[in-house]
Amino acid sequence: MSQPTQGDVPIKSENDIVVVRRVVRDLVTRLSFGVTDVTRAVTGASELTRNISLYAGTGIMWWTTLDRHGAAGLELRFEGHGLGISDIELAMKPGHGTSHGLGLGLPGAKRLMDEMEIHSELGKGTTLTVRK
Ligand SMILES: Nc1ncnc2c1ncn2[C@@H]1O[C@H](COP(=O)(O)OP(=O)(O)O)[C@@H](O)[C@H]1O
Ligand SMILES: [Mg+2]
Repeated sequence: MSQPTQGDVPIKSENDIVVVRRVVRDLVTRLSFGVTDVTRAVTGASELTRNISLYAGTGIMWWTTLDRHGAAGLELRFEGHGLGISDIELAMKPGHGTSHGLGLGLPGAKRLMDEMEIHSELGKGTTLTVRK
């Protein structure tokens, strides 16, 4: 039986951080990531989920496995349903965060992942896409 290559985790409350952490850990372990990259992916996903819970209220994490010239990877798309971020450049600045999360914030999450893109539409919400 082949394994699923995409799925989603609804983020309804802070408790879903635990679910996201488990799903990401299982996925990257299945993709044969090394221990360091497993920890990075789980920690980054954790921060982005916490941000959704703190600032957007609810949202969803979509995941898709990647295959780039035979190298296995994972794409995570975090859709937050809140009001969105008015100034993305400011939000991405190190030291700008309020440290309600783990203290590593968006710049930290970007460092932990290999790629990160943010799209925010005021009044509609924020989508953060990361790839490892
Ligand atoms: N998913 C999101 N929806 C709306 N605003 C967000 C989201 N993620 C982050 N933000 C905004 O960006 C700021 C910076 O986030 P972050 O770097 O994680 O720092 P912190 O969570 O410590 O404030 C937050 O304070 C918040 O205003
Ligand atoms: Mg944060």
